[in-house]
Amino acid sequence: MEILISEAMGGESLDRLRESFAVACEPELWRDPVGLRERLASGVRALIVRNQTRVTRELLDAAGQLEVIGRAGVGLENIDLTAASERGIVVAWTPEQNANSVAELTVGLILALARHIPAADRDTRAGHWNRHRFTGIEILGKTLGVIGLGRIGAATAAKARALGMEIVAYDPLLDSDSLRALELRARILPLEELLAVSDVVTCHLPATSATVGLLDAARLSLLKPTAYLINTSRGTILDEAALIDLLGRRGIAGAALDVRAEEPPAPSPLSAMENVILLPHIAAFTTEGQRRVVTAVCRDVAAVLRGEPARFFANFPLPRR
Ligand code: MLT
Repeated sequence: MEILISEAMGGESLDRLRESFAVACEPELWRDPVGLRERLASGVRALIVRNQTRVTRELLDAAGQLEVIGRAGVGLENIDLTAASERGIVVAWTPEQNANSVAELTVGLILALARHIPAADRDTRAGHWNRHRFTGIEILGKTLGVIGLGRIGAATAAKARALGMEIVAYDPLLDSDSLRALELRARILPLEELLAVSDVVTCHLPATSATVGLLDAARLSLLKPTAYLINTSRGTILDEAALIDLLGRRGIAGAALDVRAEEPPAPSPLSAMENVILLPHIAAFTTEGQRRVVTAVCRDVAAVLRGEPARFFANFPLPRR
């Protein structure tokens, strides 16, 4: 077998890949590191993953024939990029293909929190008709704090601005003169200031050594008691215990989490909190977003196996060995 897929994936692009290569799709293989190692040791040339397969240095040591890893998504925290690069293995990814899907979900969560939509739905299904209890707030004129103004953060900011929100952003790579900030009319602020002035804070950061734990108890405590917090990026960037404590004391108005430090998460007090929305890491999961993601990753994996350069790569476009 030339191409191994260790997580759930499908679509026409994958069908086309099967016409040219021997492809094994084993959606549960990510749960079995030993089995995965054995499969990779059997001469696999390409591995395609989402975010659950841990592509470690040890795993790569067993993958002597591996030329390319295709990451169907944007986060790279599950892949040891340094180890892959040292072994000359291309890491192809999809840095922009699901950005709009994530941004659209984030906007949905802003409105869902501001208008208590999930809680009102649950209450009405239970036979109640509590109109005043679910009085919300308008987002028009409110301040959205965007932590991380990359592709997803910027797409979210643009949509929120179209809905009449003011944008402030924290991004260590940008200042207020940066073109992206100017185009979005976003004020770039230090993180602490952003947390203190925002009505809604949304996180769009990758999980790196600089971002894991960034929103710790001290920083979370800067949020306004009326603020909402949204995380559709990576669960590890915030201290979940501190967030639970803050929500329990009404230190903020509510939160929406599409991502968790541990996925799937262990049972948590968050599940019982009415002002919290919990989703199973679905921000990137739209028909359109997934079609773009799978198409791009299949195209680049096929290109590398044919000796052609990948278009979207995190290290280099052709194998180096
Ligand atoms: C991404 O990183 O692209 C999204 O969070 C979805 C995923 O992890 O596959």
